[in-house]
Order: sequence, then structure tokens, then C-alpha cells
Amino acid sequence: MTTASDVLDRVLVLEMVRVTEAAAIAASTLVGRGDEKAADAAAVEAMRLALNSLYMDGTVVIGEGERDEAPMLFIGEKVGSAPGKGPKIDIALDPLEGTTITAKAGPNALAVLAISEEGNLLNAPDVYMDKIAVGPGYPEGVIDLDKSPTENVNAIAAAKGVKPSEIIACVLDRPRHEALIAELRAIGCGVMLIGDGDVAGVIATTNPDTTIDVYMGSGGAPEGVLACAALRCVGGQFKGRLLFRNDDERGRARKWGITDLDKQYDLSELVKGDAIFAATGVTDGSLLAGVKRRGDRMTTNSVVMRASSGTVRWVKGEHRIG
Ligand code: FBP
Repeated sequence: MTTASDVLDRVLVLEMVRVTEAAAIAASTLVGRGDEKAADAAAVEAMRLALNSLYMDGTVVIGEGERDEAPMLFIGEKVGSAPGKGPKIDIALDPLEGTTITAKAGPNALAVLAISEEGNLLNAPDVYMDKIAVGPGYPEGVIDLDKSPTENVNAIAAAKGVKPSEIIACVLDRPRHEALIAELRAIGCGVMLIGDGDVAGVIATTNPDTTIDVYMGSGGAPEGVLACAALRCVGGQFKGRLLFRNDDERGRARKWGITDLDKQYDLSELVKGDAIFAATGVTDGSLLAGVKRRGDRMTTNSVVMRASSGTVRWVKGEHRIG
């Protein structure tokens, strides 16, 4: 059971929605404009401004990259209006999860944020992570990265009481996943390929309406931690293992205090204790509808969840433009 954090109590859960709303609204002006960088920059600036208006002593632990490559919301940046005085909060954020999606006006772009008490989020370096996730209701340990995709699908199918051919897996459509996709299809498993956006892909396993049973494959490690914050609130299982392409990436992991580079992380190690997860849709997707403009009004759709209470709030915002 997750115990409520007094520190998080002092930061209003709904304030988190205002932060993701601000980022999503800013990014929405650039949907379909073919400019990933501009869309990301708009979301980053708006999220930073909104975070800095909150009474907290916040630290970005998962952000836009290292200080020398990200001018704003870099890892280690202090945010909030009360440094040294307010509650100490660690923040994992992705102001625009799905920059390419946004540039192409595709589905599932989100503004995403997770907060926890200091020290409770894995300081995941910006490397790839091998991931596997299922929604709630399965026996503990049903998924395991040390097992093959076939073994995992068989275990999920047995627990669900269906044939492996009735399982649907969500996988990022990437050449690196060719063997994974071929293996899944060979056992008759349905594969739903997504172009981008694996935070939404992982969370989709918790919603039966998506028909997705399991998320598999590699994507960004920061996105893995963000998705885990959501699963911690709504239930589900997640296993992740960092993947390194070179010594520079290994060095970055060590810099953030990671010593066992081959470790298979469980959800409870990626996000510990109480946590709040918030997301606002930028474009329409399986989790949330995107920002819509009608006349002088704009609507946003957000979700905010808390691990300790398991409360999930769906928030529809109407905003006046200008
Ligand atoms: P960005 O918003 O940074 O573009 O990330 C989109 C995304 O699809 C993530 O959801 C995913 O974790 C990662 O990119 C996968 O990386 P790659 O595109 O290199 O396969």
C-alpha cells in the first residue's frame, strides 16, 4: 500500500493540471505545423512559467536533458516560488511527449508531469529503456524482461484465461523492434504499432477500451518513469531495464548514481512512495482528447491521479483566449 505524503499534501493536486494545461495549450498552437522544435519550446516555456508560480522547492529530476543541452527544465533545475522554504518536491516532466506527433498532427501527444517527495523518482538518464507493462488485475510477476516475448504473452494469456492469439501488444513502430514484432505475430498475437508516444502506450494497458493487453519494446527511459507514476496510481505492473549504446550513455547513468547497469527495475523502484501524475492531451488520443479551439474559447482535457489515494480525476477545462 502507498502511504500518503504530507509533503505532497501541501501541493494541490489540481495545481498540477494547471501546469500540464499550460504546456498543452502552448503546444497546441503548433499542431501540424511541421516544426517539432518550436512546439517543444512553446510547451517547455509555458510549463516552466506555470511551475515557477507554485509554492514549492522543486527540482527537475527528469527533464529536457542536461544543463548544457537544455536551456530550460534541465535535470537539476530548481523550480517553484519557494526555494529553501516550500515543500521539497522532485519533478519528472515531459512538456511535450510526442514532438513528432504534434508536428504531424498525429494522435496521442500529451503534456505530462509527475511529482513525488524528494528522492522517490529514479533519476533516469536520457537513454533507452526496455519496457514491458500490463494493466491491473494480473498476478504479481506475470511479466518479466528475463523471459522471451512468447513466454510473457503466454503468461498473460494464461492469467487472463484466453489464448495467446487473443492478446494484443502495443509496440513502437521502429526497425529495432522487427524481431519482437515477428515473434509476436508468429504466435498469433495482435500487434498494435504506434508511431510515437509510449507514455500513452503503457497507460493504454490499463484501459480495456483500448483492447491493449501489454506494452512491449524499448523507448525513452524518462518516459518509462513517467508512465510508472501513472501505473502506480491506477494499478498495473511494469518492468524496465536501461539500454546503453555507448560509454557516454553508461557514464551518464553512473553520474546519476546508477551502479548496476543491467538491473531489471520494478515499477516500485522507478517510482517510490506517494506520487501525483498529471497529463493534458495536446492531440486526440487513447487517454485524452486534445486541445480544441472554438471561437474565443479553448477546451482542454486532463487527468490527474494520486498514488496514495488511487483517486483519478478527469478535468475538462474551458479557457478564454486572449
Ligand atoms: P519525443 O516527444 O521526445 O519526440 O518522444 C517521443 C517518443 O516516441 C517517446 O514516447 C518514446 O519513449 C521515444 O520517443 C522513443 O524514441 P525513438 O523515437 O528514438 O524510438
